[in-house]
Amino acid sequence: MFKKKLFYTLIAVLMVAAAALTACAPAAPAEEAAPAEAPAEETLAVGIVLPTKDEPRWIQDETRFKEALTEAGYDVEILFSQGDSAKEKTNVESLISKGVKVIIICPQDGTAAAAAAEEANKAGVKVISYDRLIRDTDAVDYYVTFDSIAVGAQQGQYLIDNATGTGNPLYLYAGAASDNNAFIFFEGAWSVLQPKIADGTFVIKNSSEAVALQDKATLTRDEMSKIIGQVTTNWDFNTAKGLAEANLTVAPAADKGNVFILAPNDGTARAIADVFGVDKDVTSFFVTGQDAEKASVQYIIDGKQSMTVWKDVRTLVKDAIGAAIALLEGKEPVSKGSYNNGVVDVSAIQSAVVTVDKANVKALLIESGYYTAADFTGLE
Ligand code: BGC
Repeated sequence: MFKKKLFYTLIAVLMVAAAALTACAPAAPAEEAAPAEAPAEETLAVGIVLPTKDEPRWIQDETRFKEALTEAGYDVEILFSQGDSAKEKTNVESLISKGVKVIIICPQDGTAAAAAAEEANKAGVKVISYDRLIRDTDAVDYYVTFDSIAVGAQQGQYLIDNATGTGNPLYLYAGAASDNNAFIFFEGAWSVLQPKIADGTFVIKNSSEAVALQDKATLTRDEMSKIIGQVTTNWDFNTAKGLAEANLTVAPAADKGNVFILAPNDGTARAIADVFGVDKDVTSFFVTGQDAEKASVQYIIDGKQSMTVWKDVRTLVKDAIGAAIALLEGKEPVSKGSYNNGVVDVSAIQSAVVTVDKANVKALLIESGYYTAADFTGLE
């Protein structure tokens, strides 16, 4: 009797379980089917224009844009201007004619890009300035950027942290004068280096304009222009190499020894480091950079470049896409402050940057998953 009851109870339990399983069953295929229903490669009414394929920095941005857009299920056109403002304008015009509603543009030349931005604006297309600010026009709707003052300040601080005593030779290099960022990076670096030049820790060796201004804690744009005019790399590796060679050719051995070099970004840092590295009177050197380009990460591992400032491009890409979507929906993108472009204050969002050197390169760039270990040799 008891056994029979148990038997029926068991049957009942099994039936309930079976019913529950059947009820659950449709859920599994539905879940599996979900990705197939997601918008596969839907076209987003946004176009992207980047400055050049010739610098790994902008290939990083292209790659990260593609990753983020593919993940979101969007297909977007990315065009390169190859260092040419005329090509950039043609790129913008081509996107306008294809019916995009928002253009994300990193200008080759901040001022020259105003014409392209104004054309977009007249066509009712919103313009997001990406990484570099488009200057001297009100046709810019929004700006996504890194904290460029911090980039320069971290570069300068790295040199300071590695210098002892006084009279340390300092060689200054800058980006392109056509890029608003070049001024901001220099301003950030000057803000920390100038007091250390004033107190004798560093002695500037390659710019008479910088020497003439070395007692000024803050410089006007015109003053910075004078210095940048003398030490510009134009963001170009060969120009950087040629300038470093010219500087070392005229510098006496006494201006060499243990040298400190403010190099504005990774590409120019590698070019400049290669030149300083073969000068027999340069016994050692510290050289800065920025962008965490793979080639420079390898240089840092190998002890050929001292540091880089890592700008996590994924954040910039995410902010730019977020702003584009807000503008498409007729909303104001989230902004935290603004940047004056010479004509208007452009609402902006800004991301933090991080100093990377040999001591933390593995933890920050490899273990974080930003790059894979297999891309490098000699990682400890
Ligand atoms: C960017 C840097 C880059 C440089 C040269 C700057 O505007 O902020 O990341 O290295 O341009 O392309």
